[in-house]
Formats: sequence, C-alpha cells, structure tokens
Amino acid sequence: MEAKRLTTNPITLAVLTLFALLVFTSSFQQKAIDKLQNFERLVLSSVVGPESLAFDHLGGGPYTGVSDGRILKWQGRGLGWADFAVNSKHRERVCHGSSYNMLESACGRPLGLQFHKATGDLYIADAYFGLLVVRPNGGAATQLATSADGLPFNFTNGVDVDQETGVVYFTDSSTRFQRRDYLLAVIMGDATGRLMKYDPKTKKVTVLIRSLAFPNGLAISNDNTFLLIAETSTCRVLKYWLQGPRTGTFKVFAELPGYPDNIKRNPRGEFWVALNQDKLQLNGQTTLEQHPVALRLSQEGKVLEVLEGGPMTSISEVEENNGTIWFGSVDMPYVGVYKL
Ligand SMILES: *[C@@H]1O[C@H](CO)[C@@H](O)[C@H](O)[C@H]1NC(C)=O
Ligand SMILES: *[C@@H]1O[C@H](CO)[C@@H](O)[C@H](O)[C@H]1NC(C)=O
Repeated sequence: MEAKRLTTNPITLAVLTLFALLVFTSSFQQKAIDKLQNFERLVLSSVVGPESLAFDHLGGGPYTGVSDGRILKWQGRGLGWADFAVNSKHRERVCHGSSYNMLESACGRPLGLQFHKATGDLYIADAYFGLLVVRPNGGAATQLATSADGLPFNFTNGVDVDQETGVVYFTDSSTRFQRRDYLLAVIMGDATGRLMKYDPKTKKVTVLIRSLAFPNGLAISNDNTFLLIAETSTCRVLKYWLQGPRTGTFKVFAELPGYPDNIKRNPRGEFWVALNQDKLQLNGQTTLEQHPVALRLSQEGKVLEVLEGGPMTSISEVEENNGTIWFGSVDMPYVGVYKL
C-alpha cells in the first residue's frame, strides 16, 4: 500500500529522504508486514486511533484507548470490542463514537496504557486529563495527577509500571502544546516535556527529568534497573537508570532514523519502537510522507529487526504478546495483528 501523503500539512521547510532509512536498515533483518500472511484487522466501530495497547494479568485483551476517550477491551472473535472504562468527564451523548479532534479536550484522549498486574489496576495517560487509574472491573477512571511542581500537564502521553514496586512512570510531552498541536511542538523545538513518577503509596508525583523535547512512550527494563523514553522531536531513545550507581541519570540509548512514538518491552526483554515518519533532512523535497516502521532493539540499543508498515498507514505502538504482534495507531480504525 502507498504511504499516506500529508497534503494538508502546513510545513513547507521540511524535507525527508528515504535514503537515510535505506542506508540505516540495509544490514538488519527486514520484513514488510504486507508480505506476511495472517495480517488481521480488529475493526473498531465509528471511533479511530487505538494508540496504546495493554494486556491484563490473565492475558486478556488487548485493551486500548480510542478517539472518543473510552478504553475498550477486545473480547475475542465473535464478541469484538466492549466498553471497559471512561474518564469521569465523559459525556455519553457528546463524546460517544466521536473521531472529531476538536472534541478531544472535552472527551479525553487516552494515549498510554499499562496494568499493574499484582493489583489489576489499569493506569491511563490521558492527553487532556493527566494520569488516571481504573480498577480491575473497569468503569469510571479516577484522576490521580494533573500537574507536577505546580506546573500543569498539557499533553500526558506514555506510562509504564514497575511491576515489583507498583510505582508508575509517565511522561508529559509538553507543558505548552496539546496533543492536537503536536506538529507545532515538534517544529518549534519545544523542550518543556517531563518524565515523572507517581507512587501509589504516598500518592506523590516526582519530576525525574525536565526539558525533554517531546518525551513520548516509555518502557521499563525486565529487571527494573532502567527505563527507556522515546524522545520524538530528537529521534532518540533515552535510557534513565532506576537502580545502581547511575540512578537518576540518563544517556542517549539509540539514535533513530525517524520520529518515535511508543516503545514497549517484549517478552524477551527487548524493545519495539514505532516510528511514523523518517527524520527530516535539511535538503531535498518539501512533502512530509508517513513511513510507518517498527524497530526491534536489543537491551543495548542495537537494531535487531525492522518491520515495514505494509497495510498500516501509521503505527503508534508495537506490542508483542504470546507469539503475536499487535499494532496500535493514532488514526486508523483498527488494531492490526499478525502471528510471528
Ligand atoms: C496464546 O496463543 C496460543 C496459540 O495461538 C493460544 O492457544 C492461547 O490461548 C494464547 N494464550 C492467551 C493467554 O491468549
Ligand atoms: C496548553 O496547550 C494549549 C494548546 O496548545 C495552549 O493554548 C495553552 O497555552 C497551553 N498551556 C500552557 C500553560 O502553556
């Protein structure tokens, strides 16, 4: 399938070359998703944008957040998607079924999702309503945090949970720009994003890193000693130490050929990063093409595998679970699935 052309995009200075990616990926295992058999679509009804995916402690799901602010649960073939949770501001009549982004700030837009498996609680990073939690039976989500150090979040985005301690790590992509203006945040080089932690025992939020350039998804390592943050505007992945002598410091873990969205750990302790667009170069064309790619990184930041988007015109997240890969997207009307 052709990559989608963003003809309505206001950017004129920008440029990209596929060349950089071709050079970058030439030495790795590379596959095109549409060349693989068994690609399947879990189609949503009226809503779009299943951005992030999570499975509960029984392997149920995936759960996903969609354009009208709801969290849905996949019940399997035949049963399809069912409502699981909503934020407390959700107004059924106005929000339900909406894919209109001007309603987002009123209806909410869940971006990051992660379960704390021991309690069954689902943590939600909602772009407009901050950090939320919903109990194992679903229903109305409770708001846990909307600001840190006196500065309100404007674009809560990624979340992961330390499964041993229950401590929740999350990102606010910007204090100045909201989700629907994300391109402006990238173009303006906004660097007001933050990494935070929320401790459910003390109910306190602590800022861990300030001045990030669009921190997006994050993923804790399988031994809980570090976490990775996808920094979208700089096309990098950062490594932040949670334990050991370097605790509280960070360094660049990987330089990417495109703009990363979410990052997820797989069952082997490696990481999948979803990229939507090649890195802009300072010479060349003036169009912005989406180029969805999934990269599998080792625990040392080496690229192990590259999956080309194929039928997916955009990818926000790659979740590997039980021998299957699940693809999230900010604008597509389905979750993509294929068997490894
Ligand atoms: C894992 O995959 C296998 C084979 O596809 C399936 O039979 C099993 O039900 C799956 N387990 C879960 C927890 O989904
Ligand atoms: C939050 O984002 C909106 C829209 O992008 C902007 O108008 C507002 O000023 C931002 N808030 C702050 C505190 O900068």
